[in-house]
This record gives sequence, C-alpha cells and structure tokens, in this order.
Amino acid sequence: MVYKILMKKELGSSRTLFEMELDMPLIAKKARAGNFIITRINEKGERIPLTVADYNREKGTITIVFQVVGKTTKLLSTLEKGDFLLDVVGPLGNEIHLKKYDYPVVIIGGGVGIAPCYPQAKELKETGNKVISIIGARSSDLLFWREKMKQVSDELIICTDDGTEGKKGVVTEPLKELLKREPLSLVISIGPLIMMKFVALTTNGYEGLPKVKTMVSLNTIMIDGTGMCGGCRFSTIDGKIYFACVDGHMVDFDNLLKRAKRFMAQEKESIERYEHECKAVEKLKMGGLI
Ligand SMILES: Cc1cc2nc3c(=O)[nH]c(=O)nc-3n(C[C@H](O)[C@H](O)[C@H](O)COP(=O)(O)OP(=O)(O)OC[C@H]3O[C@@H](n4cnc5c(N)ncnc54)[C@H](O)[C@@H]3O)c2cc1C
Ligand code: FES
Repeated sequence: MVYKILMKKELGSSRTLFEMELDMPLIAKKARAGNFIITRINEKGERIPLTVADYNREKGTITIVFQVVGKTTKLLSTLEKGDFLLDVVGPLGNEIHLKKYDYPVVIIGGGVGIAPCYPQAKELKETGNKVISIIGARSSDLLFWREKMKQVSDELIICTDDGTEGKKGVVTEPLKELLKREPLSLVISIGPLIMMKFVALTTNGYEGLPKVKTMVSLNTIMIDGTGMCGGCRFSTIDGKIYFACVDGHMVDFDNLLKRAKRFMAQEKESIERYEHECKAVEKLKMGGLI
C-alpha cells in the first residue's frame, strides 16, 4: 500500500522546514497527541520516525512537519503533492494522558518541536485545561504555526535566541517568569535535547522555584518503534534502562546527549554520497546522456 501526499508547503523562510498532509484514513482514525509514524520513502530508503502534528478524522488525513537534517529528510523534501510514500506504520508511541488539571499546563516547543506541541495543546484545551504555550526558535525564519498555536492556547509566548521576533532569549526565561507568577500543574516540552534538559532543570526546583512535573518527548534513534529492537533505549538518573518508543520515565539527559551523536560519521557520509549522486545525475542530464 502506498500513501499519497495531498499537500506540501514550506514553513518559515529557512528553506529547511516543510509541512505535508498525507492521505492515511486508518492512521487518522486512531491518531492522538503524542503518536508518531515510521515511514520509508522508497525500497532502498531507511525508516524514519515523524510525529503526528495534526490529524483530521473526517478527511482521513494526518499532517507531518519535518526539518531537513540529513539524507532521508532531504529526499522527503523533494517529494511533491501527488507523490507517494512507499510504506508507513502507525500510529505508534504513547498518546498523552488527558485529564483536567487544577492549574495551567505549560507547553514548550522549540524549533521543529513546535509542530508536535500543537496536538498536545489542542487536546488539553479541549479537556478544559488552561494552556500556556511558549514557542521558540533560533530566529524568526525558523518559527511557524503561530496562529495555530494561538487558537489552542489561552496565552502564547514567542521567543527567539536572536530577538528577531517576540522576547529575546531562550524558552526557559519566560518559563521562569511563569513559575514565579502562578502555580502550574504540568510542563510539556518538545524540541532539541539540550532545550528539554534545561526545561527539566528549571522545573526541578531551580534557584528555589517551585518543582513542576515535566514531560519531554525523546527523539532517539528508532528502528521498529514497538519496543522490540532496543534502538531507542535511554537510561534514567538511577541507571535503569527504558525504551523511548513505548516507555515513559525520568531521563538521564547527559547520557542521551552522548548517545545522540553516535552515528554522526555515518550520517555525514550518507548525505555526502546522496548529494554526490544527485550532482552526477544532473551532469548526465545536462550532457543529454539520460
Ligand atoms: C519519535 C520521533 C518523532 C520524530 N518526529 C519528528 C518530526 O515530527 N519532525 C522532524 O523533523 N523530525 C522528527 N524526528 C527526527 C527525525 O526522525 C530525524 O530527523 C530523521 O530520522 C533524520 O533522518 P535523516 O536521514 O534526514 O538524517 P540523518 O543523516 O539520519 O541525521 C542527520 C542529523 O540529524 C540528527 N538526527 C538523526 N536522527 C535523529 C533523531 N531521531 N532525532 C534528532 N536528530 C536526529 C543526527 O544526529 C544528525 O546530526 C523524530 C524522531 C523520533 C524518534
Ligand atoms: S524503536 Fe525499537 S525498541 Fe524502541
């Protein structure tokens, strides 16, 4: 079975962020905030996990947002409306546990992590919670979905590292202000590992601020996405091992940051080879040889 791309558009002006709407009625029927899919673009392609950033049960579609970081995401960015993905498995992962909290829930999205924050904010708001969202990026050209996030948030705070939009600084700054301002029930943080590490440190009693339960979304290497292969394992601060695709637990961020760099050399080689092949095909085309 192949899966059709119904819509593709660029997000922001960085030329690295893309949104796609995919025709997947069975996955759309079941998808919830916190779920992801694993897709393979073609027969020779690797399987990559991507979060369900939105779903429409009536239309039978799901939305993904991805950032070009290596070979497979680059190849994905070359596909257009009307093209197909070879195979997709999902929805995988643990969906968000919904309940009405006593105090506001803060949702923090960094970079491409803003997209998976959207369904979390939407479902929590629909459950009657007060949702405060903080979205941040290095600069304004990497920000997106401001309006969408506004629609599902009681308060939206925007920040950029370089001050090109919203507050100047990192997402933990407005978080500290909120922690001083009012009691909070839960913080959800999705984005770069280093951002999630500092969010977790801030909500763990930083400089006498109140402690708040914090949930993060781990983008570890994933292979099967169902708890069978161990590729996504992470350790907790007390040394226990869990699998990110199926478990939830306290994270040892420093260990995870080290593990995230494990395949850097191979990933670099893979994108260099892919770009070399693309250039070779261009040359053959220009020479009229293919
Ligand atoms: C559950 C889950 C959900 C995800 N959802 C999204 C999403 O919605 N949108 C999105 O853009 N990306 C998402 N990712 C990350 C995405 O899967 C990777 O960016 C992708 O696999 C990279 O493949 P590549 O061949 O393009 O790059 P590679 O050549 O494999 O890697 C290029 C660079 O990206 C880094 N990288 C590789 N894999 C990951 C990873 N899993 N997480 C973070 N950095 C990585 C490498 O360290 C390297 O620097 C998710 C990952 C997981 C585990
Ligand atoms: S991806 Fe294989 S166990 Fe999680």
